[in-house]
Amino acid sequence: MSPPVRAKISALGTYVPPRLLTNADLEKLVETDNQWILERTGIRERHIADKGVATSDLAVEAAKKALAERGLTPSDLDAIIVGTVTPDMLFPSTACLVQHKLGAKGVWGFDLSAACSAFVYALQAGAQFISTGAHKRVMVIGADVMSSIIDYTDRATCVIFGDGAGAVILEPAEDSLGMIDFLHEVDGSGGCSLYMPGGGSLNPSTHDTVDQRMHYVHQDGQAVFKFAVRKQADACEKILQRNGLKGSDVDVFIPHQANRRIITATADRVGLRPESVIINIDRYGNTTAGTIPLAMETARQEGKLKKGDLVLLAAVGAGFTVGVTLLRWAC
Ligand SMILES: CC(C)(COP(=O)(O)OP(=O)(O)OC[C@H]1O[C@@H](n2cnc3c(N)ncnc32)[C@H](O)[C@@H]1OP(=O)(O)O)[C@@H](O)C(=O)NCCC(=O)NCCS
Repeated sequence: MSPPVRAKISALGTYVPPRLLTNADLEKLVETDNQWILERTGIRERHIADKGVATSDLAVEAAKKALAERGLTPSDLDAIIVGTVTPDMLFPSTACLVQHKLGAKGVWGFDLSAACSAFVYALQAGAQFISTGAHKRVMVIGADVMSSIIDYTDRATCVIFGDGAGAVILEPAEDSLGMIDFLHEVDGSGGCSLYMPGGGSLNPSTHDTVDQRMHYVHQDGQAVFKFAVRKQADACEKILQRNGLKGSDVDVFIPHQANRRIITATADRVGLRPESVIINIDRYGNTTAGTIPLAMETARQEGKLKKGDLVLLAAVGAGFTVGVTLLRWAC
């Protein structure tokens, strides 16, 4: 048997819908204020899709940019994995819709549900196809239209989320760059802290589920916050330790953007250098599966992400799901 091949990210593309929802806009919808939102979350504004624009539309735009960056056509891909919690519909999968809209003939794919950890989980799922030699090019997309499941009368959730997408292409690495290690964990006992109760097989859609606002995100903010602060740092420490690394060795820390305070708490505990920490939550809010590729793009635009850099990705999300990836940036 041939030894496993290392997967690398060979291209990145991102997309956010143009319409902005600012803190000032939210002040008109619910009892909140700019200062509270900024201090408690770090968010100034988020992008919101227009009516009729779905997750697959954002995903396709991001995918096209990644393909163009690498000079590939859609049919050059072997598979498309879409991490999302807001699929266009329950089925067919958003991956099927993206495959069709891209015109990626002969390419297969599937959706992956892990909420805010979906991008890191999908990244590792895709990397396994490269590692085994089964595939040469896998597109991994994180995309969400969170505004489609947010209750804009609930001030505790509506200030947090936004819409956005990011796509990367995975290919075999010929050098020592690419994936180094990953650590994933779920704790299903946290399911009741962040969830959308309506529309699945347990509570199929009825007038009653609509009346009871069951098709919106429900969150125990403090429970999620406490879990995220503890587990994100634990997972980062564990993966660094088992690779003989310290926080200060990380060149670029690209965390899920859920709350600025969760990110800085992780950075402090893990001993990350402040300049290595990528934060763009102020501009996008929490785009769920979109945050990490969007933050990769921010790092790149700020000149902080260069070939060979040691990168640590980290996410905690509904489930609870936890995922960290250690890699060397390769494009
Ligand atoms: C949601 C979150 C920002 C709330 O911040 P917090 O500091 O925990 O705030 P609390 O929930 O304790 O609420 C404190 C007060 O602010 C109020 N409040 C909540 N949302 C508010 C808003 N948008 N504007 C003004 N006040 C608000 C609460 O009603 C509460 O008032 P009270 O003390 O009179 O009852 C924070 O808990 C959080 O970020 N949690 C994690 C969320 C997350 O990451 N979700 C995605 C998972 S990946």
